[in-house]
Amino acid sequence: MGGNTPHCPFLLAMAGRSREKKQAAGAAIVRRAAKIIIEGGVPLQGTIRIKGAKNAALPILAATLLTDKEVALKEVPPLEDIKTMSLLLRQLGVEIHCDEQNNERYFVYAHRLHSFTAPPGPVRCMRASFLVAGPLLARLGRVRISRPGGCAIGTRPIDLHLKGLTAMGADFSLEDGFIMLEARRLRGEQIYLDYPSVGATENIMMAACLAEGTTVIENAAAEPEVVDLANFLNSLGARVFGAGTSVIRVEGVNALAGSSYTVIPDRIEAGTFMLAAAITGGSVLLQNVLPQHLKPLMAKLKETGMRVETPEGDKVLVEAPQRPQAVDIQTLPYPGFPTDLQPQAMAFLSTAQGASVITETVFEKRFRHVEELCRMGADIYV
Ligand code: UD1
Repeated sequence: MGGNTPHCPFLLAMAGRSREKKQAAGAAIVRRAAKIIIEGGVPLQGTIRIKGAKNAALPILAATLLTDKEVALKEVPPLEDIKTMSLLLRQLGVEIHCDEQNNERYFVYAHRLHSFTAPPGPVRCMRASFLVAGPLLARLGRVRISRPGGCAIGTRPIDLHLKGLTAMGADFSLEDGFIMLEARRLRGEQIYLDYPSVGATENIMMAACLAEGTTVIENAAAEPEVVDLANFLNSLGARVFGAGTSVIRVEGVNALAGSSYTVIPDRIEAGTFMLAAAITGGSVLLQNVLPQHLKPLMAKLKETGMRVETPEGDKVLVEAPQRPQAVDIQTLPYPGFPTDLQPQAMAFLSTAQGASVITETVFEKRFRHVEELCRMGADIYV
């Protein structure tokens, strides 16, 4: 799925160090089960509360680099990727406190940054680490960062991030294998993205908040997580308009303030539980969801014959009254069907009556689960 990092050598090395050393380094402590054993054949029944969106929390954490005032965040999900981002920020000098009673509250204070070099360990482990490039460049006038790593679902270039930041006046160079971007102050520019990349939209949007003048991003990504980041930036005093459409306008300001902000619910986690309810022939009520973010999946589940209801504004009920009918799915940028739900949807459709055609248009190598599903008896042909 998304950006999990099960084989990251950096985090594994950290896991092998003593607890004291890890804590001294402010490091993420990696706990990983060797296996997960699932005894199947049981319909899932019950109620589950969905956590905050990982893909919104990661850019929001990166965006805290833009301000020297304190930021309080709620609903930050307790995930490995969040630990990796926290570790990266700490290594830049950011103070981060996690509420002891409730570890989904974060207090972040980036008043003193002591480095413009993003530590290569976390950056190579997790692609979302590259989201610190725009904020560091805008705040410090320069950033040194390695090419990002991440999951093996495609080549995942960063050309659109670099195209946007250099269009805003950043000088680009390569130094000992690191990307170096420098600009005393970025300037607003009209930027057309060849593809509505989520990360490129976010990096450019964050950098534009402190640029001189107005930046317009055309063919911008419209994902809910981009909108959440824009709302967070505006809560700091930024002037971001049009997030959620294909044209985003950012009027640069001289400095940003602090704020208190709650991350949106995770539509991918919600979608995964919805598909789990359907695939097991169960009945699951999801709480803390935004049903408007789940429309592409709700529409497909209904097409297969599943019952999907929204009893209240922040709840979704999924019930499986029968074996699903086959449907075709094509992944697309939002509001199309999300690529991050494609593997789960494929597992579900493996159990459907009839043949489904699944077309992945976002990542060229996101069919690695096919082989495993076939080993479990699925009949899938790529
Ligand atoms: C984000 C999500 C990820 C999701 C993806 C698509 C986060 C942390 N991760 O990833 O879970 O699967 O959106 O919804 O939010 N591309 C380029 N050049 C670039 C950047 C991207 O060609 O500079 C291409 C990629 O190779 C890919 C496509 O654009 O084929 C989409 O990538 P992008 O939207 O950037 O995904 P991420 O932001 O990496």
